[in-house]
Amino acid sequence: MSGPNTDYDPVEVAAVQPEEVDAARDAALAAIAAAADLDDLKRVRTDHAGDRSPLALANREIGALPPQARKEAGQRVGRARGEVNQALAARQEVLEAEHAARILVEETVDVTLPTDRIPAGARHPITTGSELIADIFVAMGWEVAEGPVIEAEWLNFDALNLGADHPARTMQDTFWTAGEGGTESGVVLRTHTSPVQARTMLDREPPIYVVCPGRVFRTDEYDATHSPMFHQVEGLAVDEGISMAHLKGTLDHFASRLFGEGITTRFRPSYFPFTEPSAEVDLKCFVCKGVDPASCRTCRGEGWIEWGGCGVVNPRVLTACGVDPERYTGFAFGMGIDRTLMFRHDLADLRALFEGDVRFTTAFGTEL
Ligand code: DAH
Repeated sequence: MSGPNTDYDPVEVAAVQPEEVDAARDAALAAIAAAADLDDLKRVRTDHAGDRSPLALANREIGALPPQARKEAGQRVGRARGEVNQALAARQEVLEAEHAARILVEETVDVTLPTDRIPAGARHPITTGSELIADIFVAMGWEVAEGPVIEAEWLNFDALNLGADHPARTMQDTFWTAGEGGTESGVVLRTHTSPVQARTMLDREPPIYVVCPGRVFRTDEYDATHSPMFHQVEGLAVDEGISMAHLKGTLDHFASRLFGEGITTRFRPSYFPFTEPSAEVDLKCFVCKGVDPASCRTCRGEGWIEWGGCGVVNPRVLTACGVDPERYTGFAFGMGIDRTLMFRHDLADLRALFEGDVRFTTAFGTEL
C-alpha cells in the first residue's frame, strides 16, 4: 500500500491485498493490546486508525479498484477497520478504569488524619506558671486576689509606709501617668504587686490569706535580665497570732511544691518599709541541692538562689489599711515570677518570655 492513487494504476491497486489488510489489522490489534496506558493508546490510535494509517490509506484506494474488486476489498477493509475501532474502544474503557482506580489509591486522602492547618498553639509559660503558683496557695485554702496595673500612688507607696520623702521610693523607678497641665497625677503604673495587700485589707476583715500574681512596671532597660514590664507574686496573711514562723513554714512549703521535696528557704536580714522585721528569701538550689555547689551553673556556686522579699507586716501598714495592729499581725512576701521561671527552666534570656515567639511558648506545651 502507498499514497493515494490519483489515476487508475493496476500496480497500486494490487497493493490492497487481503494479506496486507489482515497484517495491518493484526498489527493494530497487537499494538492496542500492548498499549500500557491512555497516552500509549492515543499514539496507537493515530498510528493504526488515524488518517495516515495503513488501513485508512487502503480504504482510500478502494475507489480506484475495478468495480468487480471493490465490493470484496471494501468489505475486508471495512471489517478490519471496524475490528480495530472496537478494540480501541474496548482498550480505552479498560485503561480508563485502571486509571481511575489508580488515582483513587494514589490520591487517597485520609480525612481522619489530624491536621495542623490551624496550629493549636500553647498557653504562655507566664500564664501557666502564675496558675501553678496560685494553685499551690489555693490548695492551702488561700484566695487569689487581683488589682489594677494603673494604680493610685497612695496604694502603691503611702499605704505601704513609703511616704513621699521615703528614700526607698526612688529605688522603684516609677512610670508616672501625666497629670493635667504638667501637674503630678497621683497615678502610677504599679511598681510591685504590694498595693494589692493594701486593697485587700481595706476591702475586708481578717482573717486574710491572699496570693496575687500580676504584672508590674518599672523604668528599667530591656535586656537579658531586665524588662520595664515583668511579673510578681505577692502573698499576704493577716490573722490573730501570725508570726515569722508561719511565714517561714509557708515559704518552705511553696518552695518544695514548686521545686521538689527537700527544697527549703533561708532568710537573710533585710529592709522593706512595709515589713518589720524584713528578710530576703533565698531558695535552696534545686539543681545541686546545696550539696556540691562549686560546679553548679544554676546557683553559681552559692548553693542558694535569691528569690524575693518578705517579712512581718509593719503595724503602720495595718493601721493605714484599717486593720487593728493590737489584735492582728500578718506576714507578706513578694517574688518575681519571670525570674522564678528563668531559673526553673534554665532560660538564659528574660526576653524570650516577652517576645511572643510561638516556637518558644509551644515548646512549653500546655503544662509546666
Ligand atoms: N514589693 C517588693 C518589691 O517589689 C517585694 C516584697 C518584699 C514584697 C517584701 C513583700 C514583702 O510583700 O514583704 O521589691
